[in-house]
Amino acid sequence: MGISPESLAAMIPADFTLGVATAAFQIEGAVAEDGRGPSGWDAFAAQPARIVNGDNADVACDHYHRMADDVQLIHALGVDSYRFSLSWPRIQPDGRGGTNPAGIAFYDRLLDELLSRGISPMCTLYHWDTPLPLEQAGGWLNRETAYRLADFAAIAAELFGDRVQRWVTINEPTTVTLNGYGLGIHAPGHPGLFDAVPAGHHMVLAHGLSMQALRAAGVPGDIGITNVYSPVVAARGGFVNDLLVELFDVLHNGMFSDPVLLGRYSEFNPLLMPFLHYLTEVSDEDLAIMSQPLDFYGLNYYFPTRIAPGPGPNTGPDALPEGLPDHMLEDSPELPFHITGWAQYDRTAFGWPVAPEYLGIALAEMAARYPQLPPVFITEGGASFPDVVVQDALTGEPHVADIQRINYLGDHLAAALAATAPGGAAESVDLRGYYVWTLMDNFEWAAGYSQRFGLVYVDFETQQRIPKSSYSWLQAITSLRGADTSAVRR
Ligand code: FCB
Repeated sequence: MGISPESLAAMIPADFTLGVATAAFQIEGAVAEDGRGPSGWDAFAAQPARIVNGDNADVACDHYHRMADDVQLIHALGVDSYRFSLSWPRIQPDGRGGTNPAGIAFYDRLLDELLSRGISPMCTLYHWDTPLPLEQAGGWLNRETAYRLADFAAIAAELFGDRVQRWVTINEPTTVTLNGYGLGIHAPGHPGLFDAVPAGHHMVLAHGLSMQALRAAGVPGDIGITNVYSPVVAARGGFVNDLLVELFDVLHNGMFSDPVLLGRYSEFNPLLMPFLHYLTEVSDEDLAIMSQPLDFYGLNYYFPTRIAPGPGPNTGPDALPEGLPDHMLEDSPELPFHITGWAQYDRTAFGWPVAPEYLGIALAEMAARYPQLPPVFITEGGASFPDVVVQDALTGEPHVADIQRINYLGDHLAAALAATAPGGAAESVDLRGYYVWTLMDNFEWAAGYSQRFGLVYVDFETQQRIPKSSYSWLQAITSLRGADTSAVRR
């Protein structure tokens, strides 16, 4: 695999958005500065053995103090747009009530900096950093949290609505639900298994309520949600295996996209009722709130999922890559299935299969499931690899030759463009853009600093930024497709 920059650039439509994405908690640091309140993730990281190497995000990339330099890195990439998230506890420390002027000022500066450099801001309201008082009151298991996020949306609309060109209400409610409240390997560390389903419902409800708040405030920017999508296949044939695939597909995909795009929860085999009954008890009023028309749909794609019956052996192809502790397994002896490996695909440092063709399949499945699918942005895609810094023999400059990441990004972008081009498997999908996850190495949640996804290498001792080869590669793509960064592009 591997596509040349010239061939890839030639596939990119003139009005296609190229961007990079980050999230506040993963990059900002400065967790106790200028009036920021604690988040559920600060509390989770402070508990023993939750995060690889006992890391926390107290400093992360120190982006709070280095924002202008980081925006310059984005500008020099030549991308059209930057997707970032607002830190809810920096703006509204208690998750309710008063706001924090210093936190607001930071995002004012960020937005002004972006716009002055012709970079279109895509702003995520919620990328997992729940204010701690709300987490302590039950977090997403508590329906109230949905109304608190809607209040926060109204605040954000008032403060930043004049400058944000695209809003994402919530990032990956799937991951928060399954990892945070189902398995307990993300904040808040609640291993409730199927009792997590209401948390997912409350997050999609929060999306709908936040949309209403943004619309009521009359923001001129477009509004959407970001869901992660993973095509699900059975490791073996047979009735039970198909049933387990259906279960995982509802839990991971349908539960978060059906109510938004179809106005109802997924239909499922009645045998799955013990696990999914909550979804049949939701009111029509909630479904109406959740299914308001979107301006765009945000889709994150990283890898497909292969499901096998019973708990995992966690050895052989089911083992975690070296360096990742067992408590990070997305598995439980109490689940009727486990995620199993793919012999035919290379794996990233996280152990994720590198399967670009499944991005085309993901888009085709979305098109088949949702005939009224709005325009789509791939709001995240990327990969972690064990990057190594070397001194350039000629210049003596530090350098990271991340060829695997270049191939990953090139092959995935090409697969998405080919699938959605006339004659492609997902030709009815109106694909508008692709955001690389991520600008720079950062705090990768439970994996701490062990997983590097960035186009820019970060030395976490010195905070030195070292653009990797993939950064130069994306620069080449943006200039080859004739990017015009002199004006804000949408
Ligand atoms: C996604 C998250 C993002 C990052 C990438 C690797 O699930 O949205 O914050 O952690 O995975």
